Amino acid sequence: MATIVVNGVKRELQAPADTPLLYVLRNELELSGPQFGCGVAQCGACTVHVDGQPMRSCVAPVAAMSGRKVTTIEGLHSRAAKAVQKAWVELDVVQCGYCQSGQIMSATALLEQNPTPTDTDIDHAMAGNICRCATYVRIRAAIHAASATLSA
Ligand code: FES
Ligand code: FES
Repeated sequence: MATIVVNGVKRELQAPADTPLLYVLRNELELSGPQFGCGVAQCGACTVHVDGQPMRSCVAPVAAMSGRKVTTIEGLHSRAAKAVQKAWVELDVVQCGYCQSGQIMSATALLEQNPTPTDTDIDHAMAGNICRCATYVRIRAAIHAASATLSA
């Protein structure tokens, strides 16, 4: 049995050590923010933060999370996170919504490390997050809007 810290809370797990973190988050801890998309680290729908860095939880064995800080969108409360969520609403970024938890996790991680990203920085940071509704233009605009909020 593994113990991990998710959204600031220590959790004792029943899942085997090689279970993907995403399955533990959704099925055992009932955190439905991270989504299952491809299952092979190609779409970004399952993105969470591990020690502040974006990580594809579909391919991360839960045993590797021991002693590390896992954050899902449910536990995202930083200043950058609030700026991102506000911008997402104001610019009406979401279409079907399936990819958006992962998009917000990657965008927040970017702004926490680089509060004034260029278009190139944004494209690089968001390259692994696929949106089948093609909301990319609004995502980029929302990241710039969140950046402006952080700089105000
Ligand atoms: S479900 Fe993890 S990257 Fe697609
Ligand atoms: S909003 Fe539909 S997949 Fe991105």
